[in-house]
Amino acid sequence: MKKQILLFTLLFSVIPCFSQSTESLRITHGPWLQNLTNSGVTIYWTTNLPAVPGVWMIGSKPRADSLVRNSTDGQINAGGTLHKVVISGLLPGTKYSYRLNSVELMKLRPYQIYFGDTVKSKVFNFTTQSPLKDSTRFMVVNDIHTNGAKLAGFLKSGNAAGQDLLIYNGDIVDNFENEDQLLGPIIDTSVRYFASNVPFAFVRGNHETRGIMSRKLKNYLDFPDNSFFYTIDEGPVHFVILDCGEDKPDDNRYYYGLADFDQYRMQELEWLKNEVNTPEYRNARFRVIIVHMPIIPVYKIIYARLPFLIKENRGYGPGFLAEHFGPVLREAGADLMIAAHTHRHLWLSPPFSGYSFPVLINGNTNYVKAVATDQSLSIQVISDQGVSVFNKDLKKK
Ligand SMILES: [Fe+2]
Repeated sequence: MKKQILLFTLLFSVIPCFSQSTESLRITHGPWLQNLTNSGVTIYWTTNLPAVPGVWMIGSKPRADSLVRNSTDGQINAGGTLHKVVISGLLPGTKYSYRLNSVELMKLRPYQIYFGDTVKSKVFNFTTQSPLKDSTRFMVVNDIHTNGAKLAGFLKSGNAAGQDLLIYNGDIVDNFENEDQLLGPIIDTSVRYFASNVPFAFVRGNHETRGIMSRKLKNYLDFPDNSFFYTIDEGPVHFVILDCGEDKPDDNRYYYGLADFDQYRMQELEWLKNEVNTPEYRNARFRVIIVHMPIIPVYKIIYARLPFLIKENRGYGPGFLAEHFGPVLREAGADLMIAAHTHRHLWLSPPFSGYSFPVLINGNTNYVKAVATDQSLSIQVISDQGVSVFNKDLKKK
């Protein structure tokens, strides 16, 4: 018995904490771009083994031919399998090329670090945003509910790679319980069609607030100021992205006392009140509100005569938003709201929208393509069969 214990002790004293894997290092998902701005971008990918993530910037100055690694609290980020590299200090309206550079980290002990293989990806490109850009193309998809084939159909039909921005307007994942739900059907599909070269902006829907992984959504996606409500300036369009929260009251028994959305939405409302008074909002050529659950101020007389419209305001969450956010948006004005959630296409022109601007609720079998120039915002709603079901040209007022 003593011999066995001695052998056991000897064995474990020589086995390193990062033992060499029989697998080779490889990229398992990505890269996918997030949070593209005038001066930077965030790049995500995963590897099968722990690695040191880096991004080689190629071609354009000021980052030409340099390896970008990020550090936290004085240490270069290393040792994980989900990688995030923030590239900053870029020039507006400039095309950059990049390739991933992952170095396997075999052993990480005090004064003893062993590196393994270096794996490089092929070269990808992105172009930083520019305030001088006079047109933009964007696509909106929503209510995918983890259906990768459906997402693929939309992205292929809409030529996602030819857009400047994709917007994922909520319920993209159907209750977030494990990372494969996001990495497989959503990230892999997005990467196949566009996401290594064109960013997508994620808008949280009510389904993304459910499941144990819902609290880790920000591990995989990057948001301005790390907030689910934010703005994007893309060419002539100023997008205001809102976070609708859950659809039922916080004290609903299915939330088991762990929902706090009323208080959260009131914080968001204060942010929105400030946002609509900024020069960026006031001076934008087009202001587009993006939100998963429709926000339609209640006009009792109109809705009494058209009872089918009441459906779009049904539920506690949409009602809360209509009551609190509706008046702020009505007062501020905008050019368009694009919503989702009801799984039913509906175009509401003024005054039925409750605003001086229209509301598009995109159904779950359609996607939206839009082209904005200095003078017009053209909207096209296209079915999963590739058939155009709705068109509208909005002129700058
Ligand atoms: Fe929804």
